[in-house]
Amino acid sequence: MLSVQPNIPATLAAVPRHVAIIMDGNGRWAAARHLPRAMGHRRGAEAVRKVVQGCIRQGVSVLTLYAFSSENWKRPAEEVDDLMALLRFYLKREIKELHNNKVSVRFIGDMAGLPLDLQQMVKDSEALTASNKMLTLVIALNYGSQAEIVLACRKLAGKVARGELDTAEINEESFGAHLQIADLPYPDLVIRTSGERRLSNFLLWQSAYAELLFLDVLWPDFDEETLAAALDDYKTRERRFGGR
Ligand code: FPP
Repeated sequence: MLSVQPNIPATLAAVPRHVAIIMDGNGRWAAARHLPRAMGHRRGAEAVRKVVQGCIRQGVSVLTLYAFSSENWKRPAEEVDDLMALLRFYLKREIKELHNNKVSVRFIGDMAGLPLDLQQMVKDSEALTASNKMLTLVIALNYGSQAEIVLACRKLAGKVARGELDTAEINEESFGAHLQIADLPYPDLVIRTSGERRLSNFLLWQSAYAELLFLDVLWPDFDEETLAAALDDYKTRERRFGGR
């Protein structure tokens, strides 16, 4: 059982504790400029830099970014390679600065499905930044929410089978504790860019009471001002969590 209750939503907080973003529109940004898709992703990585800075400045505690979904492997091999290369580049280039800025970097998703060198970079980045407290940056990599939920079910079923847990003890709290970032608060605000209005298998359980914000801006154009406007919009929302 958790000693703190991290998943009580930030009812009255003016600033969301946890912002989660589906970064969409890199391809369309590139196509509009007759550039290869890889350029869109590259500019997308620069937007990541800006949003991390913005979250630090605005006092957000957790930022989760959907960098690569478990469905993204279906993209052409060349684009998958470009994205993996970009993630390597980002982790190599940014990790020191993230560390200097006291950002703790964590990953969710099926790391075992990633190239071995990237798995190592993931471990090294987490280890280096583990004690940082300014912002927790969660990067969802080879992530799918349904798979995460199924895995939690499997872990609980295993405990029941071994006699470590009674079925009556399976509830929202114990279930949530078997998800990947169980020690962090659930998202208060989920943003998707590029005009699409779907959650696309992103933090489905954790977003049960999140405010949703769908923006027309393409991800590479997302900057600190866009973040500030999104946080202003969040302030106007009245969160009731099922009450009146
Ligand atoms: C969606 O745009 C974006 C992605 C699948 C990748 C997101 C990755 C990055 C922003 C770069 C690196 C990330 C980090 C954390 C450094 P899309 O290609 O689906 O765009 P489209 O819908 O316009 O084609």
